[in-house]
Amino acid sequence: MTAPNDPSPGLASLGPGLSVGPPLGTLESAPAWHSLDDIARAVASCTLCPLYAGAKNPVPGHGNPNADFVCVGEAPGANEDEQGLPFVGQAGQLLTKILAAINLSRDDVFICNVLKHRPPGNRNPSPDEVTACSPYLVRQIELLRPKVILALGTFAAQTLLQTKEPIGKLRGRLHRYHGVPVIVTYHPAALLRNPSWKRPTWEDVQLARTLFDRVVEP
Ligand code: URA
Repeated sequence: MTAPNDPSPGLASLGPGLSVGPPLGTLESAPAWHSLDDIARAVASCTLCPLYAGAKNPVPGHGNPNADFVCVGEAPGANEDEQGLPFVGQAGQLLTKILAAINLSRDDVFICNVLKHRPPGNRNPSPDEVTACSPYLVRQIELLRPKVILALGTFAAQTLLQTKEPIGKLRGRLHRYHGVPVIVTYHPAALLRNPSWKRPTWEDVQLARTLFDRVVEP
């Protein structure tokens, strides 16, 4: 049972998680990129994998450069490719509502994807593409130093946590990515197809919010 004055109700129920990578302070992953804008410029001229050639726009990520809460999805889709912004289609509108449910606006958070260019036909990213793109995500996390990462969907969760465990086994645990707490939940696009996942998603984001409140306001 939670003690009446426990500021973190629910966190006690989180199972032990996976931990990937050394703590941020020791990383120095890509010191040439001093800001999120530097990363956006590097992504805009990136040719490290073939995806840039078929994409209309790079989608490096968007949001508050001082965000303590970071959402990580899979890869841009058609709408994102068109606008150069992450999560702006139907799934993105649902993500906005999910964030609002925990009193966060898109201006409060930073939203990005594992891949920064759209895979053709929305196919799954290939391992080579993920490897080529990963320095951008690592450096974004390193610069932002968020208090919480919300991993959206199987692909983001498995990539960040370097595991093949299914999402059902990754949810409800407190993982770490370079020392940063990670909560895993369903991808908003999957929620649109499976409304029965709304309740578990609600529980996941409540935990992310509780964790965020605890670490931001100790
Ligand atoms: N799905 C994702 O994973 N990312 C986006 O930016 C849009 C849809």
